[in-house]
Amino acid sequence: MFAMTKRVVLAYSGGLDTSVAVKWMGEEMGVEVIAVACDVGQGGTDAEGYWNMICERALAAGAVEAEVVDCREEYASDYCVPALKANALYEGRYPLVSSLSRPVIVKKLVDAARRHDAGAVAHGCTGKGNDQVRFEVSTRALAPDLEVVAPVRMWGLTREQAIQYAGRFDIPITQSKEKLYSIDDNLWGRAIECGEMEDPWAEPPEGVWEMTTVRAAEDREVTIEFLAGTPIAVDGSQMSPAGIIECLTDVVGGYGWGRIDMVENRRVGIKSRETYEAPGALALILAHQDLESITLERDVAHEKLRLEHRYAELIYDGLWFSPLRLALDAFIEESQRHVTGEVRLKLERGVCRPNGRRSPKSLYDYGLATYDAADSFRHDDAEGFVRLWGLGVQTWAARQG
Ligand code: ARG
Repeated sequence: MFAMTKRVVLAYSGGLDTSVAVKWMGEEMGVEVIAVACDVGQGGTDAEGYWNMICERALAAGAVEAEVVDCREEYASDYCVPALKANALYEGRYPLVSSLSRPVIVKKLVDAARRHDAGAVAHGCTGKGNDQVRFEVSTRALAPDLEVVAPVRMWGLTREQAIQYAGRFDIPITQSKEKLYSIDDNLWGRAIECGEMEDPWAEPPEGVWEMTTVRAAEDREVTIEFLAGTPIAVDGSQMSPAGIIECLTDVVGGYGWGRIDMVENRRVGIKSRETYEAPGALALILAHQDLESITLERDVAHEKLRLEHRYAELIYDGLWFSPLRLALDAFIEESQRHVTGEVRLKLERGVCRPNGRRSPKSLYDYGLATYDAADSFRHDDAEGFVRLWGLGVQTWAARQG
């Protein structure tokens, strides 16, 4: 197998599975492994120390090379912002935290494969999840000539056996046998799976939350400014998209808001209980939807709502790099031309809600909406309009109803 492939680029996370995968692919497949760790914002506050540790670990596991690619700004601008413009929520609730990061990671893997003259890319996903779908479909879209290797799906080791394997080869790991959760995090949020949450009736233990622990003492408002659908400032401070997402994750998360607990339908046919926290992403979507309420014409707004669902599904299903996503993007991009303005969000413990919105391109017309003296609506027009609107039903009622 893979006789032609001497070098493999592995999407390396530093966790147990990908660490064991480095050694296992070397031993079982006789390939050289280049470990590529993509920084999509999961490093936390001591990011530098974190990434150094990750590289050392990859080399200790037997990688011939280890590199970190900083994808934060690209991820925010080219993946999170388009998803925000689409208000993308899978099954109406999940802001696609993991789903959205896979395509940018694959893009970097393919770049690395070209630089290192590798014939394959590898990932550490199991056969039961969505992430394998995203890694493989994205790779085939970007580089149909590359092979894809899925060591974790091939080896059939239990968690216990993987830990033993790491011990046998002196592979440094931090996980203990008691490790309960499978966590995936990035700028857009955090996914927490497994452990006691595999019972959909069980309450997620308080300890699983990191971004949404209550830290704020007083209620406040936060103002988000958008330019053509892209967030550009928070409370008047201009920031890059990555900066805005980080800032709102911190501010809104401090009110304990932004948690999701759902049973979702995986692409591979399994129903899965998932918990997420995504205070920044959800606050941005809430504000963006609200700004669209005054800037989108009715038919555009309604049609967009239909397509948003499809857009989210494509991201979830690993079809970021697909002609339909590009076509939908063209629609969404066009719809955003006048989505410019500000939204005030009110923050209270466990609450985040829009409290006001304004736009220089607003379609809200005070003269048309008001009931006071400034009213400019032509009341006489209403009578004939409503009569014709109801004519079909009236005829039906008279003859058949
Ligand atoms: N269910 C989510 C998704 O498919 C989260 C996946 C989290 N991945 C992980 N390796 N824990 O997008």
